[in-house]
Amino acid sequence: MKALILSGGMGTRLRPLTHTIAKQLVPVAGKPILGYVLDHISEAKIDDVGIIISPETGHHVKSYIGNGEKWGIKPTFIIQDKPLGLAHAVLTAENFLANDRFVMYLGDNLLSYGLNRAIERFNHCGAEALIFLKEVDDPKRFGVAELDEYGNVFHLVEKPASPPTNLALVGVYIFTNRIFEAISHIKPSARNELEITDAIEELIHMGCNVKSEILKGWWLDTGKKDDLLQANTIVLDEYARLDIKGFVDSESSISGRVTIEKDVKIINSNIRGPVNIGEKSIIKDSFIGPFTSIGSNVSVNSSVIEHSVILNEACIEGIERLEDSVLGRNTEVKRNDRHHKALRLLISDDSVVEV
Ligand code: TTP
Repeated sequence: MKALILSGGMGTRLRPLTHTIAKQLVPVAGKPILGYVLDHISEAKIDDVGIIISPETGHHVKSYIGNGEKWGIKPTFIIQDKPLGLAHAVLTAENFLANDRFVMYLGDNLLSYGLNRAIERFNHCGAEALIFLKEVDDPKRFGVAELDEYGNVFHLVEKPASPPTNLALVGVYIFTNRIFEAISHIKPSARNELEITDAIEELIHMGCNVKSEILKGWWLDTGKKDDLLQANTIVLDEYARLDIKGFVDSESSISGRVTIEKDVKIINSNIRGPVNIGEKSIIKDSFIGPFTSIGSNVSVNSSVIEHSVILNEACIEGIERLEDSVLGRNTEVKRNDRHHKALRLLISDDSVVEV
C-alpha cells in the first residue's frame, strides 16, 4: 500500500494567508495541518508516500517534510503544474503509484482517528475503492453518497440541490489502480477540473465495487477562516495538555490545559486554556483566553485575545479584545492613541478587517 497526499491547490478561500504559505502548512493547535495527516499515514505503517505539490508553494511543503524521517516515511514529491482537480492530481502521480493500491488523503483535512481499520477492511473486501463518509447537517455543500443496504456506494452527486442523503465525502479515499481507467473516461467539469467524484461514479458504472466507511468522530476541512478557527477549537479541546516549558513569573496565573513551549516568557498575564503558545513568544500584561493558538516569536502586550489563531512573529499591542481572528505571519495589530477614531491600515490583498 502506498499513500498520496494532495498538498497542491490554490487555497483561494484561505487568502490572504495562502499568498505566502501553503494551505496545508497553516497551523492548528500549534502544528501544521499536514503534520496530522502524516501522523495518520505513519500510524498506518505506510512508508512509500507521494506528495502532490504546486510550483508556487511546493518548496515550503518540501522543507517541512524534509526526508520524512520524523514520520518514518520515504517521501516522493510530485509537482502538479496546475490545480486541475483531485483526479488530475492522481493522474499526475500515475508513475509513482504504478500498480499499487493507495490511500489518497487531502492535505488540508483533519480526521479524529486514523486509517488502520479502513485499510484492513479494504484489504479483505475485494473492492476497487473505499471512500470515507461523514453525516453532516448541510449536505448541499458537499459531494454526497447514496449507499445500498450493504453499505456499497451506488451513486455520488456533487453539491446536490436536494440531497438524497446526509453522507458527505470526506477527503480520504482508498483505491486500486482501476481508478486510472475510470479517470481516463471522465471529462473536466464545469469548473474545468477532473473531479474525483466523477471518477468514482465512473468506477461504479464500470461495475466495480465501491465500499464506504462512515466516520464517527470529527472531520474538519480547513478551507476557510471559520473552518480553521473551528478546527483549532476542536483539536485544542482534544489534544491540549498542561505542559509548561517556558518561564511564568509570579504575577501570572495559568489555568486549564495550557502548553507553553520553551523560551516563552509570561509576564503579569493570565492564561486560561485550552491554549498553545509557541517558542520564544512573550506575553506581557495580557489575558489569553480559551481556544487560542499562538505561534513562535509572537509578542502580545497589554491585550486580550480569545478564540484566535496567531501565526509566527505577529505583534499585538494595546488591543482591548481580539477574538475569532486569524493573524498571519509577521503582522502587527497595535493601538495608537495619537490618532483618535482613525484607523491606520497596511493590509495585504484579500485581507478582512472588522471594526
Ligand atoms: P480544495 O480545497 O478543493 O482546493 P484548493 O486547495 O485549491 O482551495 P480553494 O478551493 O480555496 O482554492 O483542495 C483540497 C486539497 O487538495 C488541498 O490540500 C489542495 C489539494 N489539491 C491538489 O493538490 N491539486 C488540485 O488540483 C486541487 C484542486 C486540490
